[in-house]
Amino acid sequence: LSLGDKKYKFPVITGSEDEKAIDIAKLRDETGHITIDSGYKNTGATKSAITFLDGELGILRYRGYSIEELAEKATFLEVAYLLIYGELPTTEQYAAFENDIKMHTIVNEDMRKIFEGFPVNAHPMGVLSAMVCAMSAFYTGDKAGADELNIIRLMAKMPSMATWSYKKSQGHPVNYPNNSLDYCSNFLNMMFALPVAPYQVNPVVAAALNKLLILHADHEQNCSTSTVRLVGSSHASLYASISAGINALSGPLHGGANQEVIEMLEAIKADGGDTAKYIAMAKDKNSGFRLMGFGHRVYKNFDPRARIIKKAADDVLAALGINDPVLKIASELEAAALSDEYFVARKLYPNVDFYSGIIYRALGIPTDMFTVMFAIGRLPGWIAQWKEMKANKEPIGRPRQVYVGATERAYVNI
Ligand code: MLT
Repeated sequence: LSLGDKKYKFPVITGSEDEKAIDIAKLRDETGHITIDSGYKNTGATKSAITFLDGELGILRYRGYSIEELAEKATFLEVAYLLIYGELPTTEQYAAFENDIKMHTIVNEDMRKIFEGFPVNAHPMGVLSAMVCAMSAFYTGDKAGADELNIIRLMAKMPSMATWSYKKSQGHPVNYPNNSLDYCSNFLNMMFALPVAPYQVNPVVAAALNKLLILHADHEQNCSTSTVRLVGSSHASLYASISAGINALSGPLHGGANQEVIEMLEAIKADGGDTAKYIAMAKDKNSGFRLMGFGHRVYKNFDPRARIIKKAADDVLAALGINDPVLKIASELEAAALSDEYFVARKLYPNVDFYSGIIYRALGIPTDMFTVMFAIGRLPGWIAQWKEMKANKEPIGRPRQVYVGATERAYVNI
């Protein structure tokens, strides 16, 4: 191992694979800021006690609790409490947390004036990030304890604000929160209730949504979460940091992928629904076609979240009696890929975005709201990461740069 290239001041790793593994682990332990990314693209790693994942084994745990168990037994707000405060809540703590959230679900009417200025066809992720950022202007957060209150405010208002874009796109009035409902049912009511007809939240839909939000609640360091920590490291407000995370999530390589999955399935359907043709195209590097929702940067095994969502998707489709040709194409693609040597050898399993797109569609959530759903689920994880970064008194982030441009050039007027 050599850390010696002083000229460029970044570690140069040499030695056998075994030596590298040992020394890198030691360095990580000692500094917490080492990255061995060949492209030097990542910011340094951070220490975190929130989410554990092992991509080789396909394990994901929040604060030590398995994602499978939480998805089966917990409510989204319990998981939010666990992530944000470190422990599962007692009955009293849960009641107080839920009540605090209910007390803050209404959004300041002046925020609505900002919202009204957005075009009817604005992407809801752009609107949501702007609304969350605007909260920093409404709640300046300079008083003692303001962070804690801002956390509650954000958890409470996010579902309310998230539904506004959809209502506007339909030409419908926005719905106010109904605090007699639980977190998920309240969101569904704000999405789908109309003044002209009674709306009954379907418990199958509410339960599926609860599971989806839990599965998306945190995923250790990734583009959006590291963004939240990085922006927060300058001591920017919670709102500014989370708004930045929403923007990071909006990209098609991150949270936007679930929207791309359904758009891909729609395109395959419009082209006659021949999945075998698209499987062949996916294997041909020159075809220009990319199979969205397959493979994951970290998981070299089945994404544990995908396994749970797949089952939930099957259950929901059966319970709601949905017979959607787009979803039929999805199951054909899934079956073909899981039994195809090319995909199996490359461990290109369907990922969480593949199944979440399918289940959101089955729940009646419009396609361009899919990434918003991801953001609602990820909110407690982002908050927990932001809190941890502050509690650790982490210094302001300053990712290392490797300069590769010209050293010095003489100015010539052309
Ligand atoms: C996530 O849930 O954030 C995604 O799977 C992206 C990732 O972790 O790289």
